[in-house]
Amino acid sequence: MSEPVLEIRDLRKSFGALKATDGVSLELHPGQIHALIGPNGAGKSTLIHQIAGSLRADSGTIRFLGQDIGGLDMAARARLGLARSFQISSLAQEFSALRNVMLAVQARHGSSFHFFRQVSNDKELTEPAMAMLERVDLAARAHVPAAELSHGERRQLEIAIALALSPKVFLFDEPMAGMGPEGSKRLTSFLDGLRHEAPMLLVEHDMDAVFALADRISVLVYGRIIASGTVDEIRSDPDVRRAYLGEAA
Ligand SMILES: Nc1ncnc2c1ncn2[C@@H]1O[C@H](COP(=O)(O)OP(=O)(O)OP(=O)(O)O)[C@@H](O)[C@H]1O
Ligand SMILES: [Mg+2]
Repeated sequence: MSEPVLEIRDLRKSFGALKATDGVSLELHPGQIHALIGPNGAGKSTLIHQIAGSLRADSGTIRFLGQDIGGLDMAARARLGLARSFQISSLAQEFSALRNVMLAVQARHGSSFHFFRQVSNDKELTEPAMAMLERVDLAARAHVPAAELSHGERRQLEIAIALALSPKVFLFDEPMAGMGPEGSKRLTSFLDGLRHEAPMLLVEHDMDAVFALADRISVLVYGRIIASGTVDEIRSDPDVRRAYLGEAA
């Protein structure tokens, strides 16, 4: 099999006595959408935050493209190509949609842009940022402040920001949340297309989307992966049906 793009080994994170991540190992391979499912409070977002670098693991390793990234902060991980969209929005609310994406383009280029430079008319930033908004169907709303976008539009904007990082991996935490059936369908086919761009670790409660998209599914319960396999394997796993899919044994 190909080398994993992302390789997590025995990751652990406690909040006081609570083991939110309890020895998680997981691999993401090129071309794959790997879905991470599990009940509320299982530790899915906590895991995403540790991979993105917004939360430090207590122990264990995270290797990205062969490099141990455990010691890098979130900005450094983003520059390496780890793009994330969190369950809790991290948009700059007062900035326009375009400006939010421009900040991501700028972050991607790191120090090649000066912090104090007037960026609003800078074509090197506006053009790629506008192209990302077009891809997610948000170009018409480019100049609207993030705070005034609808919930669905904000999710689209977060994906545009992830795209602007020219990612080598996508980390998505519940991109479908609050989308409604039509929006979810559109987003599902959009995410399907992204698999050719970079592999994806996808946390999602929408099981229609998960079953449609995932090459592999891991099931997290109380901070532990209780099963990992193909869609068919996970659907027919009695432990998973009991623990997560809500069926009587
Ligand atoms: N900063 C924190 N401090 C203390 N406890 C936390 C913190 N963040 C998360 N937790 C706890 O860790 C556990 C895992 O939370 P997490 O948000 O990762 O779950 P989740 O699987 O993403 O749930 P959901 O599906 O509801 O989003 C929960 O019990 C949560 O209350
Ligand atoms: Mg969560």
